[in-house]
Amino acid sequence: MQKELDKDTKYIKINKTDGQNFIKQIKKDIEVIDKNKKVLHEDDFILFPILNEKYIITTLKNQNLNFEIIEGKGILRDKNKFKTLKEALKNNLPQNLFQYIPNSYDIIGEIVILEFDKFNDLDSKIGDSFKLKIADALISVNKKVKTVYEKASEIKGEHRVRDLKLLKGKDKSETLYKENGCTFKLDIKKTFFTPRLVFERKRLASSPISEGEVIFDLFSGVGPIAIQIAKKYKVIIHAFDINPIAFHYLKENVNLNKLLGNVIPYNMDINFLIHPTSEIGKIFQNTADRIIMNLPEKAINYINVGCHLMKKTGGILHYYQFSEKPDVIEKTIENVKTTLSKFNYSIDKILNSKIVKHYSPKYELVVIDLKLKPRT
Ligand SMILES: C[S@@+](CC[C@H](N)C(=O)[O-])C[C@H]1O[C@@H](n2cnc3c(N)ncnc32)[C@H](O)[C@@H]1O
Repeated sequence: MQKELDKDTKYIKINKTDGQNFIKQIKKDIEVIDKNKKVLHEDDFILFPILNEKYIITTLKNQNLNFEIIEGKGILRDKNKFKTLKEALKNNLPQNLFQYIPNSYDIIGEIVILEFDKFNDLDSKIGDSFKLKIADALISVNKKVKTVYEKASEIKGEHRVRDLKLLKGKDKSETLYKENGCTFKLDIKKTFFTPRLVFERKRLASSPISEGEVIFDLFSGVGPIAIQIAKKYKVIIHAFDINPIAFHYLKENVNLNKLLGNVIPYNMDINFLIHPTSEIGKIFQNTADRIIMNLPEKAINYINVGCHLMKKTGGILHYYQFSEKPDVIEKTIENVKTTLSKFNYSIDKILNSKIVKHYSPKYELVVIDLKLKPRT
């Protein structure tokens, strides 16, 4: 895609036949032609983008060359693609605003999601044009990006989604995203999804999982964990989500990744699995070899559902929690231990425990992988 610059560019417009002579006339050691911009062709003329108008006029005026200096839009040469956001903004932003350029942003398929957290001390007018420049630069840095949103709220509600404000491009929140050899369709305004868990999903999908395991992904969203595990192992994964739109994409993603029959989607509040009248709850009771609980703000409230599903002989639990600093891992383990004490299982072994990512100044996202055994 060609990129037009904000500033006008000076060109020497010269007849094609004189173009070669012009190149011979100008000294190589002086920067005369702007090599970052494209040479243009217009009918019988060539337009060379120039850096040094004065030099050209004095050098060429005594030669028998017909030329004129004109102004036009400069077009960057393809090889001059910017690698970073800061590089793309170098000539386009006052130095004092550089500190506000976000250091990281999420790219999900054709969509970028930006977060401006240091913005309170900027006048809102400057802020708006600044954000637009960032959005423009992002589109120029990332060829695939068609839409730039700004985070407009925290992740909230039962469906764990956030408000997004359109900064640039099409207001199209559905996109295709590829990760670890799998493809996911999702709507970033209507379903939970974060690319920041890419390594955690890879780690889970690389855990030692036995063929034939029955796995429950209790908060599956559009299916990134379940699908990545099922792509790698011959297992059956029951994947639940309460959000009907996440369920819609989960079904579609099972199809897209050719996992029909391996990942089985349910649109359900998992609390229903322990309801006395729940037929499906009875069928699934004590059938799980492995359970994934990725609802970090309140998975602890569903430990009873996990215990209902876990095989009588025990199994593996992958449990996520936002834990308050300090001692985030110890607190997470203690929390599960205490809650489990009300049910029929206890911790046999802590297989793994770690901080997955920084969540907020006070909280970390922690995962613990536990081997559970029946309480004796
Ligand atoms: C933090 S997201 C995780 C989604 C997915 N594991 C991922 O990595 O993208 C939690 C998901 O749990 C779902 N959820 C919340 N409460 C639920 C419940 N009671 N039963 C089933 N799903 C629930 C939400 O709709 C949301 O999609």
